[in-house]
Amino acid sequence: MSALLEIQGLSAGYARKGLALDDASLVVPQGSIVALLGANGAGKTTLIRAATGLLDLHHGHVAKGRVLFDGRDILGLPSHQLVRRGLTLVPEGRLIFKQLTVEENLNVGASILPRAQVRARMDAVYALFPRLLERRRQAAGWMSGGEQQMLALGRALVSGPRLILIDELSLGLAPLIVLAIYRQLKLVGETLGTSMLIVEQNAKLALEFASQAFVLDRGHIVLAGAAADVAASELMHESYLGARREAA
Ligand SMILES: Nc1ncnc2c1ncn2[C@@H]1O[C@H](COP(=O)(O)OP(=O)(O)O)[C@@H](O)[C@H]1O
Ligand SMILES: [Mg+2]
Repeated sequence: MSALLEIQGLSAGYARKGLALDDASLVVPQGSIVALLGANGAGKTTLIRAATGLLDLHHGHVAKGRVLFDGRDILGLPSHQLVRRGLTLVPEGRLIFKQLTVEENLNVGASILPRAQVRARMDAVYALFPRLLERRRQAAGWMSGGEQQMLALGRALVSGPRLILIDELSLGLAPLIVLAIYRQLKLVGETLGTSMLIVEQNAKLALEFASQAFVLDRGHIVLAGAAADVAASELMHESYLGARREAA
């Protein structure tokens, strides 16, 4: 399988704080779901921001490394150019437009599409998340957290990307909603071939759905491989899957 996203030796940080990401490398193969795991503060969001040109906004900087999408350098490209190339982001905290309706939010994601394609793409998102169809004329800010996450995903999917990066998919959401969202994403991957990099604190769940996983610890990738191998590894059990706590 060839690499769709390839991050090579990426180091990044924030003013006066030193490096939050140190020499991290990661690959998302074409058509796969990859999990990026790690505790709070490990550097997951920094990696996502660095790869998508958003670090400046947060007073951060990339110190070194390369980010290739489909073999081409994308480091520092603005978001609208990434979207045109087929890479979209569901940022941490979702950042939907709360005053706008569901459909208006989806329209923002669809803005790069030729007009003639918008309706069909929108309908495909509604088919995936019927709740959004029911709420299409409602202000997004009035919806539940789960529905807002569906909207954020819909906005990222509506342009028909080749890769979506999802930062904290399940944070703050009820387990049943999270499961439903994962199942729909898996379906998207299987039917459209969309690749995904999913940042998760719920390691157990992410490892069930992903084929590959990377684990960040204090800015370093400390574990990488097939999801099943990562799930079975001793480090994973001791540090992230709660074996130590359960044994205590
Ligand atoms: N805007 C910022 N300014 C300064 N430090 C930051 C900023 N954002 C994150 N950090 C620091 O960078 C490190 C990695 O954070 P982050 O990438 O958000 O981790 P994660 O997403 O894995 O929880 C942490 O030590 C955090 O405090
Ligand atoms: Mg984060």
